[in-house]
Amino acid sequence: VRVLVCASTGDTSAALAAYGARANIPVVVLLPAGKVSPAQLLQPLAHGAHVVEIDGDFDACMKVIQQVGARDGVLLANSKNPLRLLGQATVAYETVRDLGWRAPDVVVVPSGNLGNIGALYQGFSLLRALGVTRSMPRLFAAQVDAAAPFHAARASGYQAITAVTSKDTLATAIRIGDPVSFSRARRAVLETDGGTTSASEDEVIAGMRALDESGLLACPHTGAAMAGVMQLARAGELGKDDLVVLVSTASGLKFAESKARVTTRAPARARANERAVVDALAGVGVSL
Ligand SMILES: Cc1ncc(COP(=O)(O)O)c(C=O)c1O
Repeated sequence: VRVLVCASTGDTSAALAAYGARANIPVVVLLPAGKVSPAQLLQPLAHGAHVVEIDGDFDACMKVIQQVGARDGVLLANSKNPLRLLGQATVAYETVRDLGWRAPDVVVVPSGNLGNIGALYQGFSLLRALGVTRSMPRLFAAQVDAAAPFHAARASGYQAITAVTSKDTLATAIRIGDPVSFSRARRAVLETDGGTTSASEDEVIAGMRALDESGLLACPHTGAAMAGVMQLARAGELGKDDLVVLVSTASGLKFAESKARVTTRAPARARANERAVVDALAGVGVSL
C-alpha cells in the first residue's frame, strides 16, 4: 500500500489521518467543503494528511474516491473496504462485553452511509454464532429528515433505495443522500426485525438536550439517534423491559460551534458578589 485514501463527512478522515501518520503512510482525504466542523478538519490537517475540499457534497466525494481507490497501491478506507467493517464490528463486541456478555434487545445507531449498521449486524451475528450471546438485537438506523433515503425506503419494505439530494442539517456527518452500503443495511434491519427513524432538526436539538442533561455531551448525530429512540417509544416499538443501546458516534466537543448555537444558554453576568450566587441558587430552586 503506497497511499491511504477516503471520502469523509469528517470522522473517517480524522481516524485515517491518525493511523496513516502512525504507520508513516501518506493519506489523502476528500471532504465536502464547508460541511465538516472545524474540529473535524483540524484532525487530518494536524496529522499531516493531504486534505482536498470538494465543491459538492459527500456523495460527490464518494464517487471520485471510488475511482481513485480502484488503482494499484491505493487503499480505500471507506466502508467498501471489508477490513473497515471488521473494525466497526468491534462496537458490537464492546457493547456485549459492557453488558456482561449479553446482547441488548434494541440498538439505535446514527446512520448515513450505512456502514455502521451493517458492521453491527456482522458483529452481533458472529457473537451469536459463537454462542457468546443467545439473541440478536433489533437494529435501527437513525437518520435526519435532511438526508433520509434509507428511512424513505421503508415504504418499499426496504427493497429499493432512491438517492436524494441532502439538505442542511446539524448532523453533518450523516448528511449522505446516496449511501453505498444499502444492501448490508437492508439485511441488518430486515433480519433483526429492526427499521429506521428520521428526525427533524428540532428533534435533533431536543435529543441532544436530553442527553446533555443526563451528563453525556452529545453530538447532533447522537441527538438524532436519541430522537429515534423517543419515536420508537412513542410508536410502542419498545417493550417496558427492553434493554436499549444508543450508539453515540462522536463527542459533542467535535461539534461545539453548532451545538453552542442551539443547545446552550448564555452565562448569567453579574458583579462578583455573594448576592449573584444566592440569586443563581434561587434560580435553581435552592434557598439558603
Ligand atoms: C459522527 C458520525 N455519526 C454517524 C456516522 C454514520 O455512519 P455510517 O456512515 O456508517 O452510517 C458517521 C459516519 O461518518 C459519523 O462520522
